[in-house]
Amino acid sequence: MIIAVDGPTASGKGTIAKRIAEHFGMAHLDTGLLYRAVGRQVALNEGDPDDPQDALAACDFPDELMQDDILRSEETGGLASRVSVHPDVRQALLERQRAFAQQPGGAVLDGRDIGTVIAPDANVKLFITASVQERARRRWLEMVEKQIDDEEEIPLSEIEKDVVNRDARDINRKDAPLKAAKDAFIIDTTSFDREAAFDMVLDVVKQALEVD
Ligand code: DC
Repeated sequence: MIIAVDGPTASGKGTIAKRIAEHFGMAHLDTGLLYRAVGRQVALNEGDPDDPQDALAACDFPDELMQDDILRSEETGGLASRVSVHPDVRQALLERQRAFAQQPGGAVLDGRDIGTVIAPDANVKLFITASVQERARRRWLEMVEKQIDDEEEIPLSEIEKDVVNRDARDINRKDAPLKAAKDAFIIDTTSFDREAAFDMVLDVVKQALEVD
């Protein structure tokens, strides 16, 4: 069984995917972390994230990098968005994601192209979204709360601009752009808190799978 969870940056899809996986006892993969690891590795290699060859070379990152907290920083998110436009990078990460999706016991994957490219036959496809303002506000709150790095002083207006840029890059890239699969359930969480959003999504998944 495969559950695909796609959506734009800071839509809450990661938290929702993780909780859905826990609820059903399935494995979970945050595929954004793979792109973040590539972005980080480009920086470590002192390469150019916009250069397809530098980006491809960085796909050879060591597994331990996936555990590094720096992957969750705003800066690495920006690098990830840049390396993710290169088709060779997407191809290099594709098999890893498909193998994860096919594991016995089932898997929940979250990202941008899970329902469209990685697992087009997923049992349930969700597209989680929220307004730009609300996503920027959530990201800002998260940064202040967690003090992920030394960027917590960034004003909300800057985060909002970054969200808009990130959306534009993810939506407009030629290869596997961010979009809802035709058969995805589109869930807008703008006016819901985390708990209410999760409850709503869980209901949708249960109905789709016809389970209690
Ligand atoms: O979900 P995230 O913010 O961690 O993702 C970081 C970037 O990685 C995002 O801007 C685009 C890219 N990405 C992608 O292209 N495809 C995915 N399945 C997941 C992430």
